[in-house]
Amino acid sequence: MKTEVGIIGGGPSGLLLAQLLHRQGIGTVLLEKHTREYVLSRIRAGVLEHGFAKLMREAGVGERMDREGQIHDGIFIAHGGVRERVDLKGLTGGNSVIVYGQTELTRDLYDGRDRMQGTVIHEAQDVTPHDLDTPRPYLTFRKDGESVRVDCDFIAGCDGFHGVSRRSIPPERLSEYERVYPFGWLGVLSRTPPVSPELIYATHERGFALCSLRSPTLSRYYIQVPLSDSVDDWPDERFFDELKRRLPPDVAAAMVTGPSIEKSIAPLRAYVAEPMRHGRLFLAGDAAHIVPPTGARGLNSAASDVYYLYHALLDHYQRGDDSGLDGYSERALARVWKGQRFSWWMTSLLHRFPDASPYDRRMQAIELTYLFSSRAALASLAENYVGLPF
Ligand code: APR
Ligand code: PHB
Repeated sequence: MKTEVGIIGGGPSGLLLAQLLHRQGIGTVLLEKHTREYVLSRIRAGVLEHGFAKLMREAGVGERMDREGQIHDGIFIAHGGVRERVDLKGLTGGNSVIVYGQTELTRDLYDGRDRMQGTVIHEAQDVTPHDLDTPRPYLTFRKDGESVRVDCDFIAGCDGFHGVSRRSIPPERLSEYERVYPFGWLGVLSRTPPVSPELIYATHERGFALCSLRSPTLSRYYIQVPLSDSVDDWPDERFFDELKRRLPPDVAAAMVTGPSIEKSIAPLRAYVAEPMRHGRLFLAGDAAHIVPPTGARGLNSAASDVYYLYHALLDHYQRGDDSGLDGYSERALARVWKGQRFSWWMTSLLHRFPDASPYDRRMQAIELTYLFSSRAALASLAENYVGLPF
């Protein structure tokens, strides 16, 4: 096989890049190791920055997002038994976010690939990039027992944190930055009406909690738990009791509980690999960086990388201009690190750290007090939450 851009990974990063390039006549072959059903079975957050939503529309896959996604003009932060609203729209001159599950977004991207008859190969095993530091890189993989080769001009590593792409960069070329948080999030999906039409990020001495949603009849709730906990420690009744204890009384009283249809614990970790390029290989999304979910930046950081890589490849093929490719890693990382900062700030502000000193806890408290006493501080939160400019 031969194509312009070989893409490893059929998650949001790889699918969005493939869709955008194909609409500009640039050929891609996307290799995904799992089945489409498996990829679509993953339950993940979906708070889309306005820039990401614009990119989905440019990719020709924004119609259902605009029809079914929910525009949120604000979020709440609950502390000290009360909740205070952050007016995202008012603080950013009119910008909002769209709440639209990542599963639905991924489904729309796959449908877009189908409509354009894009080449997406599932159950591609042992995908391996070759000759990355030559002008003729290629990919090999196995499918149905056959070995296949894909010759391409460039390779996009969109294969997530555990993929093969980042591991294909010589270790001596890579700088890695990581922070592992001493707690995780226990998440529950329930077929119940969400307790609030807008997200509530709650901080409490017992720990962090988040009230989110997927639709008017599907709620998504989280509580911070020790890393030593397992899902079995948290039957539904215990989960909802603990969630309510961390919320303002009026919110707890209004909560409709119901059986969990999905329950899982995710550790919180931050990670960045530099550079995001090695020869003809370009990393995008979770392949290069991970953020704790507190700031809802994961999907949006992936979209940011795709934006820069898409325009860099467009400049190469349409204008013979490689400045975008040469500057990709630096440009993408500049925004990645701002997403890391915001995720770190939200996580530090709202979680209970087991080893926090009394001074640390007073700093958390004064940070919250200052936040709600200063329009400038709220505007800083808001501009990061709706999405900084690309
Ligand atoms: N070969 C082929 N495909 C692979 C390989 C491999 N060696 N390793 C991983 N993959 C596939 C995975 O099966 C997955 O479908 O790459 C895809 C990577 O998708 P994601 O992990 O979703 O990463 P990304 O597309 O960058 O999206 C980032 O997803 O994980 C969330 O919070 C994250 O919202 C963020 C978004
Ligand atoms: C979610 O709805 O799953 C969600 C929303 C916002 C976050 C994290 C997760 O910051």
